[in-house]
Amino acid sequence: NGRLRVLSGIQPTADSFHLGNYLGALRQWVRLQDTHETFYCVVDLHAITVEQDPKVLLERTRRSAAQLLAIGVDPQRSALFVQSQVPEHAQLSWVLECQTGFGEAGRMTQFKDKSAKQGTDRASVGLFTYPILQAADILLYQANAVPVGEDQRQHLELTRNLAQRFNNRYGKTFTVPEPHIVKDTAKIYDLQDPTAKMSKSASAANGLVELLEDPKRSAKKIRSAVTDTGREVRFDPEEKAGVSNLLSIYSALTERTVADLETAYEGKGYGDLKKDLAEVLVEWLIPLQERVQSYLDDVAELDRVLAAGAHRAREVAAATLAATYERIGF
Ligand code: ADP
Ligand code: NA
Repeated sequence: NGRLRVLSGIQPTADSFHLGNYLGALRQWVRLQDTHETFYCVVDLHAITVEQDPKVLLERTRRSAAQLLAIGVDPQRSALFVQSQVPEHAQLSWVLECQTGFGEAGRMTQFKDKSAKQGTDRASVGLFTYPILQAADILLYQANAVPVGEDQRQHLELTRNLAQRFNNRYGKTFTVPEPHIVKDTAKIYDLQDPTAKMSKSASAANGLVELLEDPKRSAKKIRSAVTDTGREVRFDPEEKAGVSNLLSIYSALTERTVADLETAYEGKGYGDLKKDLAEVLVEWLIPLQERVQSYLDDVAELDRVLAAGAHRAREVAAATLAATYERIGF
């Protein structure tokens, strides 16, 4: 159909996605369906680079898929699938590992950060080769574009290098993907520490809005978000990090511009802003959670949707893997 192809994945490592995941990444997945041919996967192979409880992992994989469907990932338009159901990911990953220098892999800063936290001896080899599996995820689908935030730039660069290296050595096999700089993404900050990003691993419970938590709880978190001692509702991330974060969230959820909001809150205080945003958030969360629940109420149907997505993904993945194997002499 002449559209550029996009691949993106998300790990099933929490019971719920949070507002940062949604406004910073997942919302764009939904929009990209209008302009691109889209492949989206729940990357459970990536999740096991750190220890996972099997029951919890399976539950979180389904919950992740249910949330993606509920926010508007449309299985008619996108191939929505679970990574482990497409064995070509692991197969291509091995081939690419054999194209990657040990030192080259060792320069990945995310591994250095994550393994330092766990202790280098305890970190798995899978955590080390994680970016190569990510390269396989992308190259299998001949993706032209990959939506990336700042934290993923180095990994995409490795993917591009591996694609070019393989193509040079064995003949053109892979599309070299470009970063897709997504417009309208908001970086969302911790409600209690608005200088740090909202994060499932680093934020305290009150700093984080989970999509599947009790909306009353979310409202309370917004109303008790940390702001400064001033009064003026103004977007100024340097001087007013907390207020600016609330304005970003408000703007993203309502499609009102930050400038509109600043005007609307002229002469009003932070309390008014928080009260209104809490309402906006609750009104958005309630129907979203109902949709998620309806997917989770019929797990058999959910599994069928995911199996169909995997089938569709495999048609492309298997063709790429076959071409790769032939090049190598398999
Ligand atoms: P976390 O940081 O909570 O562990 P992940 O690293 O799993 O979240 O991120 C999944 C996706 O969500 C990535 O595309 C990431 O860039 C995006 N993301 C995570 N936190 C935020 C945030 N606070 N603001 C914007 N985007 C975010
Ligand atoms: Na993270």
